Order: sequence, then C-alpha cells, then structure tokens
Amino acid sequence: MQLALALIGEDLKQVELQFRKDLQSDVPLIRKVGEYVLSSGGKRIRPALLLLSARLCGYVGKRSVPLASVIEFIHTATLLHDDVVDNAHLRRGNASANTLWGNEASVLVGDFLFSKSFSLMVADGDLNILRVLSGATTTIAEGEVLQLIGTSDLEMTEERYVEVIESKTAILISAACRSGAILGGATSAQEEALGQFGMNLGIAFQLMDDTLDYIASEEQFGKSIGHDLEEGKITLPLIRTLSLCNTDERADIAEIVEKELFDPDDFARVLRYVQQYGGIEYTIEAARRKISRGKEQLASFPDSPVKEALIELADYTVSRTR
Ligand code: IPE
Ligand code: IPE
Ligand code: MG
Ligand code: MG
Repeated sequence: MQLALALIGEDLKQVELQFRKDLQSDVPLIRKVGEYVLSSGGKRIRPALLLLSARLCGYVGKRSVPLASVIEFIHTATLLHDDVVDNAHLRRGNASANTLWGNEASVLVGDFLFSKSFSLMVADGDLNILRVLSGATTTIAEGEVLQLIGTSDLEMTEERYVEVIESKTAILISAACRSGAILGGATSAQEEALGQFGMNLGIAFQLMDDTLDYIASEEQFGKSIGHDLEEGKITLPLIRTLSLCNTDERADIAEIVEKELFDPDDFARVLRYVQQYGGIEYTIEAARRKISRGKEQLASFPDSPVKEALIELADYTVSRTR
C-alpha cells in the first residue's frame, strides 16, 4: 500500500484521531472495548478506499476524514458481531473482544458503534451518503443471515456463495468507494464505476479471506486457520472440491462438516482434498478475475497517482497474507 500511504497517510493518521474522539462515551466499558478493537491494527482498507475515491473525484474538503472514520466504525461493529456469531477467539493476532469481555459486551458495544455511525452520518448531513451507507449495513445483516442459513449445507452453489459474500463483505467496500465519489461531486456514471470497482474488489477480498482461512500462516493472518470449516462455512475452495470429488470423498467431507467436535486431523484431511482438486487455485483465479474487472471500471478516469494507488490497493487484495 506504498502509493496509497504516500498520498493519504496523513489523512489516515487523522482518521485514527477521529475514531478516538467518536468513541467517547460516559460508559467506561464502551471506551475500553472500543479502544481495544480500534487500536488492534486493522488494515484500514475501507477508510483508504473512501479517501482515495474522494480524491480521484477531486475532493479536497474536510468531510472525508470523519466519513472515513464512520466507515471503519461500521466495519468494526460488524467484526464484533461476526466474532460472536462465528465463535472466533482470535482477531488481528490477539484475543477477540468476545473472548476477553464475553458475547454480551461484544454485541452491545457493536450496537453502540452502529448507532454512533448513524449519528455521525446525520451530523455530516448528506442524504445520498446516508442512503448508500445505511443500505450497506442492511445488506450486511442480510448477508450474515444468508450465510447462517447455508451453514453445513454441502449443496451450497458457487452462485449462492457469491451472493453471500457480495452482501456480507463487498457491499461495504463498494459503499466506501461510492461515498468518496459522492463527496467529490462525481457524475452518476463515475459513482457507478467506483461502486462497481469496490464491489469487484470486495468480492475478491472475501475470496482471498476464504482462501487464507485454508492456507495462511496463523501468525501472519491473525485469525485461526481452518475456522470456516470448523464453523460449517462452505466457502469456494470447498465448493469447488465438492463439485469434483467422488462419492466416498464427499461422504468423508460431510462427516467432518457435520461433526460437533473437530480435531486438527479433520482439517488436514479436508485440506488435502482441497489441494488435490485445486480448490485454492480455483478461488485465487476467481479473485484475480474480479480484480481485473474492477480495474476496468477505472478506465474512464484520467491516469493519475491517485488512480495508481487505487490499482495498487486492488492488486494488494489478491497478494495479501493478512
Ligand atoms: C475482515 O476484514 C472481515 C472480512 C471482510 C474478511 P479486514 O481483513 O479488512 O479486517 P481488518 O480490519 O484489516 O482486521
Ligand atoms: C466477513 O466474513 C464478515 C463480515 C463482513 C462481517 P468472515 O467471517 O470470513 O470474516 P473473518 O474471517 O471473521 O474476519
Ligand atoms: Mg468471521
Ligand atoms: Mg474469514
């Protein structure tokens, strides 16, 4: 993210200060949990995309930093809730908030961050941005519920899976880009192009997350490996494998997916099938295609360092290890 950091590094520092301000509450537990998650080293992809998209559309004003902070608030709220739902104990290389303070505190502080995001958006006062971001939060909730319904469903298709990841992940990344475009007073065609850029990037981002859940180093990724399988999440590496393996292998995978108690050997066995049937390569290839399609969306913008930085961020999505 070198190019991006050179251009918006200063703004990103301001975003960090802005969060701290926005986190103020008279309830100490909110500040404590909020500080913990917000200071734990997230990649800040969504604020970066908002800031760069705004710049690409010529924005030079003061509203982009507070809105970039809002988008990270929304993201953080979804993570607090997501770790409860996914029963996850590791986040950004540290114990997750639910591990330290329990599910109740995580859900409630997540609610605080969501509600606070809405007050901050109202304070900004742009109805179009409010429409885009509130629409995105509704869609995220739908995506998480769709995913829940698909738990342990070996009939999960690639189409249904893509629908889930568009909703739970890509929509917010797209909304970050769209909000930047709106800030910059972009034409509706430019807003649409940036929205599509973000959508493609967001799908690729989750495809890679689901790949990394199989093959990353836990130390770099900062989250537990094999956790999707343990939670019965049927993601693209496995969907591809299931479409190619034989009946016996499918039965073996089914038994593991349905298990209540999971041991490391179970993951190793499924990973072997995934490797054997090229599930990892297939998913990475799908992510690469999304990134090329995303980059095509930027064609109508004149070449500039800001555009280069957006392209660099898109490429980073498929090369990331954390
Ligand atoms: C994690 O998002 C949730 C997904 C959509 C996969 P990030 O990978 O952007 O999380 P942080 O903020 O950098 O930790
Ligand atoms: C992303 O999905 C969840 C949200 C966008 C809320 P994951 O469940 O795969 O994300 P991680 O792996 O927990 O970060
Ligand atoms: Mg999760
Ligand atoms: Mg994941």
